[in-house]
Parts: sequence; C-alpha cells; structure tokens
Amino acid sequence: MATTPTSQAHPLRHLLSLEHMPQAQMLALLTRAQALLEADRSRAAYDTLAGATVVNLMSEPSTRTRASFELAARRLGGNVLNLDVSNSSRKKGESLLDTVYTLQAMRSDIFIVRTATVGAPQMIADHVDPDVAVISAGEANVSHPTQGLLDMLSIRQRKPDFANLVVCIVGDIAHSRVACSAAHALACLGVGELRIVAPPELMPAADAFAGARRFNKMADGLKDADVVMTLRIQRERMAQSSTPDPNEFHAAYGLNSERLRLAHPQAIVMHPGPMIRGCEITSTVADGPQSVIRQQVSNGLAVRMSILEQVWRTLRDIDTGADIDADAGGV
Ligand code: CP
Repeated sequence: MATTPTSQAHPLRHLLSLEHMPQAQMLALLTRAQALLEADRSRAAYDTLAGATVVNLMSEPSTRTRASFELAARRLGGNVLNLDVSNSSRKKGESLLDTVYTLQAMRSDIFIVRTATVGAPQMIADHVDPDVAVISAGEANVSHPTQGLLDMLSIRQRKPDFANLVVCIVGDIAHSRVACSAAHALACLGVGELRIVAPPELMPAADAFAGARRFNKMADGLKDADVVMTLRIQRERMAQSSTPDPNEFHAAYGLNSERLRLAHPQAIVMHPGPMIRGCEITSTVADGPQSVIRQQVSNGLAVRMSILEQVWRTLRDIDTGADIDADAGGV
C-alpha cells in the first residue's frame, strides 16, 4: 500500500471556488497531485479514503469530471455513489437539499456537485453536517475549481515560471466557468499576463476578469503567447437566437495551425473538453505536438485524488476534535 502525507498544514473542507485559495494551499494540492500522477504510473494502491463515501451529484452532463472523481475516490480506497439525478426523486419534486439530507442520512461524506444553479454548492455547504464536505464539480458559468487546478498542473509541468507567462484564453469567455476558475488560479500563482480573446457578444462583463487584457482579434491576442486555451461555445447557456454560427465562429476564432504560429514557438495548447473539432479548434492542432489536452485529462484524475485526500483528512480531524480551522481555504 502506498503512503500518503499526514500533515494538515492546509485544511480544506469545502472546495467551491479558487477565488480566495491561499497560494500555499494551491501549491500543496498541485505538488501532491504531481506525486500521485507519478505513483499512478506504477499502479500504486492507496487506502487513504477507506471508510469514506463520495457521492457524485451531477445535474448537468459530464464525462471527464464525473469519471475522474469516481476513479479518484476508488483508487484511494473509498466508496462511490453515482446518483442518476435525471432519474431520481428530484423528478418528483424533491428539493435539492432534501436529496442531500437523504443521502447524508445514509452516511455520505463528500458531495461532488455539478449544477446550473448559481449558489447551489454554497447552499448545500451551508446546510450539511459539520463532518460532511462539498466539492464543486462546476457551478453554472461561475466556478469550476477542480478544472482550474488541473489546468494549473498542466501549465506547471511545461511552463513552471508563472511570473513570466503570457496565457491567452480564446472563445466563449462570457459563459465559461473554466475561464473564471483559470483566471482565479492564474492570479493566485502570479501569472505575468492574462489575455482573453472573444467576439464582443462573448466577452464577459467589464468588471469581470480584473487585470486581463481583452482582444476581439485572434491575431492580436495570440501574439507570442506561451499558453493558448481554447473554449467551446456554451450553447446550453444561451438563447438559440443568440448562439453564434459555428462556421463564422471558426472562421474568426478557430485555432488552426496558421494561427497557432502567431503564438510562441513552444506554446502549449489546452482545452478543458468537451471540444468541438472544426469549430473552436482544428484536429491538426488538437492532436498536434503542442497539444496537452490529453495530459489535462490525466492531470484531472491526479488533482481530484489530491483534493479528496485533503478534504477527507480534514473531515477526519473534525471528527476527532483536532484544533483546525475547518473552513480555511477554498470556500
Ligand atoms: N472539462 C469538463 O468539465 O468536462 P466534463 O463536462 O466532461 O466533465
């Protein structure tokens, strides 16, 4: 059985946003994720989450986040329940909170929540028992903290000097929780420059993304960038009448080989997935040598293992009455 660190320097109960996460805590989670990633190559086994029950409570579709949370919990020796929300008593009118109370009564410990409702993860966190935790797996267009952490790990593996990095996020920024959490994490790690590139109708409000440079033209935003992150159009968050035409979007904002040459020659290409090939990115770029898209998926599993370890350790300390600030960090 592989060993896990026992120090509790960075207690973490709920993880709902990266906005106020201390840098030391973020770095500790990333460092542990890197170690878990390397151990996973040799199929190390853990029992860190023995006795824990993790519930995937996802009210929006997911492949990567749901699967990686399940695998992360299982590889750490925990139990996993995947509630099929679309076929649950939520459909008969049960409130989200009553669903949570019901599962909590079956001794669920950690709720992984994906929702289209702003504020729902915080509302659950405010009502669960003191020894139960909530981790956001994506909240509407406002927050996707575990994605933000896996994106930082993916950047750090190739470009560790954040202070001298130019990061360019391209696409539907206005509806992107991925971009929000990336911006918070990049600020936390002291990124040199953040650029956001989008057509005017997909730019976020003027008071969002403080400090980011805004561009409407791909060529201007991409120039000499070290990291290029492309985003899909979030059709599910728009009225059909205001959804951009995919061909027009591709013509103006699709990342192809020619455009990628405007970035730094060693620039990396990222995409949180799911990606729409031929719209925001071409297959040549997505599958090309500068792409780290599949590594992002592997990193997602390691980051979620790292988070589950830390959250479970905090819950155990709460159970035993250890003197910790249980709500420190991440909330
Ligand atoms: N990036 C991401 O959240 O992907 P899924 O929707 O597949 O979980």
